[in-house]
Amino acid sequence: MRQNSRARIAELLRGDERNIDVTVKGWVRTKRGNNNVSFIALNDGSTIHNIQVVVDVAHFDQELLKNISTGACLRVDGRLVESLGSGQPVEIQASAIEIYGTADPATYPLQKKGHSLEFLRDIAHLRPRTNTFGAVLRIRHALAFAIHKYFNDRGFYYLHAPLITASDAEGAGAMFTVTTLDLADVPRTEGGEVDFGQDFFGKHTSLTVSGQLESELGALALSQVYTFGPTFRAENSNTPRHLAEFWMIEPEMAFYELEDNMDLAEDFLKFLIGYALEHCADDLQFLNDMFDKELIERLKAVAECDFVRLDYTEGIRILEASGHKFEFPVGWGLDLQSEHERYLVEKHFQRPVILVNYPKEIKAFYMKLNSDGKTVRAMDVLFPKIGEIIGGSEREADYDTLRGKIAEMNIDEKDMWWYLDTRRWGTAPHSGFGLGFERLVLFVTGMSNIRDVIPFPRTPKNAEF
Ligand code: 4AD
Ligand code: MG
Repeated sequence: MRQNSRARIAELLRGDERNIDVTVKGWVRTKRGNNNVSFIALNDGSTIHNIQVVVDVAHFDQELLKNISTGACLRVDGRLVESLGSGQPVEIQASAIEIYGTADPATYPLQKKGHSLEFLRDIAHLRPRTNTFGAVLRIRHALAFAIHKYFNDRGFYYLHAPLITASDAEGAGAMFTVTTLDLADVPRTEGGEVDFGQDFFGKHTSLTVSGQLESELGALALSQVYTFGPTFRAENSNTPRHLAEFWMIEPEMAFYELEDNMDLAEDFLKFLIGYALEHCADDLQFLNDMFDKELIERLKAVAECDFVRLDYTEGIRILEASGHKFEFPVGWGLDLQSEHERYLVEKHFQRPVILVNYPKEIKAFYMKLNSDGKTVRAMDVLFPKIGEIIGGSEREADYDTLRGKIAEMNIDEKDMWWYLDTRRWGTAPHSGFGLGFERLVLFVTGMSNIRDVIPFPRTPKNAEF
């Protein structure tokens, strides 16, 4: 065996090899034992499970063994054998141990188990070493991989939308400015405005709130594309479901109408949940046992049920007739709050709901107008415990109608000429949607705060790590 080679603990625990020499490398979760024998639980992040290292104390340097404590990083050479204990299939009888890094028990913050999630947020640089975050990060990875697989298998192309942009796709105005101007000495125009003409890009630019507009340009050439990248929103919403920096997946399909869009969204979500159930069983079981006893049951139920498809107008009628006391007002023309969305999903229908045909006033400029002139072909997918997980629509494909809409919403047409060009030449019916990646991970892991499903959360007043 090469000096540097190591076996991944996941593979040793899963495999059926016995009585072979192995090397493992990882971090000590616990050490216990007596004067004769010591048991070290070692974890290398490849699985929620630790491998048990059995140390015959008499055969090792006592100073070395003293320095092995929770959090220390080790190389262990030894024999992989059937375990006599009941907790694990195999264990390693150590023949040599090297300490890469000690972790002083007096100062190591993860010395004890059972820290609160709030405490762990303050040590986000170390929390990947906990069972919980190991599980969440592996599931997050599996879902990202499954997203690419889903689209690749269906002939979609991955389009990279820019992060720096001069347009506000959602028209919500909650954007982070990107500038190299000297903030202590900002150049001004004669009218006293900031002179972005002197800025790096020669105009005002921001971090993108959505890759959709670029995704549309791709779809109207490659027929079906998707983006998957970070998006940024400077809204000051300190909720368990909002981040200032989050990842979004935005498929965009030419020749899709709203019905096709709904079919894709439903199939996509079910595929991803099914993928996690199949490929992340151990991690899901851990989260199920630790945090949310109904997690796996809920995932299976959503993966198997038919989503409800409902008009916004009908949704409002149900909410008004419910007799339920909501914190925020309900009425036709008002946007739904998460309490309303969750009422429909959790109380009324008890399964996911796709709500369609919203009033045009509360949705973005690019959505296709219905023949009633009042509603647009929007769709939001609403999930248990989450509320809105997907937002999408059929797009306005008609040049004149779109121009009218841009004017109506006071968007400067000269910033949108390139977008309008797609409707001037070879326009086509098309649709798409955006899935908030962290909301998906939140749903699949059963965690209750979005800050706990992204390695380094960006929220108001928080960008430490
Ligand atoms: O509904 P939204 O704003 O839609 C769009 O951005 C469209 N351009 C998508 C499209 O049609 N291509 O955002 C889409 C999803 C939401 O449903 C939600 O899951 C997530 O993105 N999202 C957020 N996730 C975390 N933190 C935030 N601040 C989020 N804002 C939206
Ligand atoms: Mg939305």
